[in-house]
Amino acid sequence: MLTMFYYALAFTIFAFFAVLKWNSIRYGSLFKTHALGSPTVISTDPEINRYILMNEAKGLVPGYPDSMRKILGTNISEVHGAVHKRIRGSLLSLIGPIAVKDRLLTEVDDFMSSYLDNWDGKIVDIQEKTVEMSFFVSMKAVVEDEPNSFIEHFKASFDKMALATISLPFKIPGTQYYRGLKAREKVLTMLRELIVKRRASSATHNDILDQLVRNEDGKYKLNDEEIMEQITTILYSGYETVSTTTMMAIKYLCDNPDILQAVRDEHFAILQKKLHGERINWDDYKSMSQTRAVILETMRLASVVAGVMRRTTKDIELNGVFFNLSQLL
Ligand code: HEM
Repeated sequence: MLTMFYYALAFTIFAFFAVLKWNSIRYGSLFKTHALGSPTVISTDPEINRYILMNEAKGLVPGYPDSMRKILGTNISEVHGAVHKRIRGSLLSLIGPIAVKDRLLTEVDDFMSSYLDNWDGKIVDIQEKTVEMSFFVSMKAVVEDEPNSFIEHFKASFDKMALATISLPFKIPGTQYYRGLKAREKVLTMLRELIVKRRASSATHNDILDQLVRNEDGKYKLNDEEIMEQITTILYSGYETVSTTTMMAIKYLCDNPDILQAVRDEHFAILQKKLHGERINWDDYKSMSQTRAVILETMRLASVVAGVMRRTTKDIELNGVFFNLSQLL
């Protein structure tokens, strides 16, 4: 299933770029089309794009096609104003820089050590492993002590859901989209059961679900529906982005042995200063200049984000071209 997601995504991105390029040659850098069944204006013009991204106040708000919205739910990219501020505040407290420094860095380090433990001397399918790794690492941050059997069961439904976000929204049994909608129901049921279980127990956990559920009087209190959407957003946003970037970083390091050596030297220098079993800390992470350069260069060379989307609810003029909403629809 995850390999299918990869191929479907790679095909979608490839097809998207190919159609984009072909249409840009035919119609220029600004034209009307349909994306995943939704009427869409495509802009590849840097000036117009800057204007669009900087003008949320003029009604150009984040918004994704129906297929994505109905599968992912009312997540952060679909809410605006005060609700967006609250959801974003909650997200930052869970996965923002302070959360990374205080909690996530150690958790990810712990998980990766055990995950990589038995790779020595083996041939591994790096595409398969980076997808699995990204999902497990996010899931362990969300629920620290659910058994792997639960995570695998959850992942099977989540993968169907993720695949459906890039399919045409035909709600007909047998289609990818229909399977995605059914999978979303299962995912939400499993999350709801986890929330009920946590509320019924007095035991505390050092994970995202506990922070969300026990945030009774907190600044960014969310209701149960919002908690489920928040978890779905975290899992979906950090899934294919991180796995593809990791896979490509490994490929580039294999292609450039001198850079690989520089990264290894950097890591071993940090390791040498550590006692046996001592974990890396924030200062170690901040000192990894070679590693950071590899990550940034990988994101520059192999960007997984084909574009960003904005929704408008009124007629709009861009670069002298007038887009009438009723004509668009
Ligand atoms: C290589 C990794 C990643 C890349 C390239 C990436 C890229 C992006 C981009 C381009 C946006 C802006 C989308 C827009 O304006 O419409 C975005 C937003 C977002 N990303 Fe990522 N992302 C990555 C990793 C992650 C991870 C690991 C998480 C969470 C665990 C995450 C969570 C989010 C969220 C929640 C938003 C929406 C923020 C808002 O609306 O305020 N991303 N990402």
